[in-house]
Amino acid sequence: MFEELTTLNARPALYAQVTTPELWTDPHISARMLAAHLDPEADLASYRAEYLDQVLDWIIDRFDVRAGLRVADFGCGPGLCTTRLARAGASVTGLDLSSRSLGHATRLARASELSVRYLRQDYLTYRDTARYDLILMVMRDYCALPPDGRRALLCTVREHLDPGGAFVFDVDSAAAFAEVREQALYAPGLMDGFWSDRPYFGFLNTYRYARERVSLDKYEIFEADRRRTFCNWVRHFTPEELTAELAEAGFADVDVLGDLTGTPYDSEAPRFAAVVRV
Ligand SMILES: C[S@@+](CC[C@H](N)C(=O)[O-])C[C@H]1O[C@@H](n2cnc3c(N)ncnc32)[C@H](O)[C@@H]1O
Repeated sequence: MFEELTTLNARPALYAQVTTPELWTDPHISARMLAAHLDPEADLASYRAEYLDQVLDWIIDRFDVRAGLRVADFGCGPGLCTTRLARAGASVTGLDLSSRSLGHATRLARASELSVRYLRQDYLTYRDTARYDLILMVMRDYCALPPDGRRALLCTVREHLDPGGAFVFDVDSAAAFAEVREQALYAPGLMDGFWSDRPYFGFLNTYRYARERVSLDKYEIFEADRRRTFCNWVRHFTPEELTAELAEAGFADVDVLGDLTGTPYDSEAPRFAAVVRV
């Protein structure tokens, strides 16, 4: 038992295990994720409704979203952004890994008599003849990717943005990293049954990788007949680090903002946003 707990608590090598697809596609977890997306008061899977409205107001205004504008939402979830953009007249494509979220998004579009193209696609490998004027990634998904994932994503963005187009996204900041504390928690049914509909024991370890400014929440979930690990890696950026990474990927025209409502950059805030032009 002591040895097992020692192994369980050992700090994993940086990006040793990436579990993003499992997190979003597991049948039980994706149902709990969808409920979190749709909770208007929660900032868990989507931003809370009031804030997301402000985000979309700003995007629609700043990028002149109207009939004919071609927009892609990478990691569109249940379609909270895509639906608003389609209502503004844009020609919208939403990409996501989660069939459950896409199912909700499709029903939402149908009920609102809107035409939105939904694709169950990994945005790291997505290739299409379609080209966009605007590509969005809302809620800091960029930070959940390991370095090779971020490079792959930027490649996808480059291939699908038309000249003059913009890639708009937000990230976790260095100020948010300063608040991360290492911890180890244990609970039967950790997080109120979030990880399984069967009885389980859950361990959560939070680690800081200070040099790389990365945090990890590692969940070990033990059921009677299976053990699973879920890793939530978050790379936190300074504007200089993000700008340098974007420049390396060939994106030189970068505007740094406070967030996706267009506020000015604030070094104390937990996140910031970038508008990248090609
Ligand atoms: C934090 S949620 C944000 C959802 C949406 N942007 C919003 O603000 O409501 C991240 C979404 O990205 C999706 N996702 C994660 N990795 C992905 C990938 N590699 N390709 C496509 N979708 C992905 C997840 O399924 C999830 O719906």
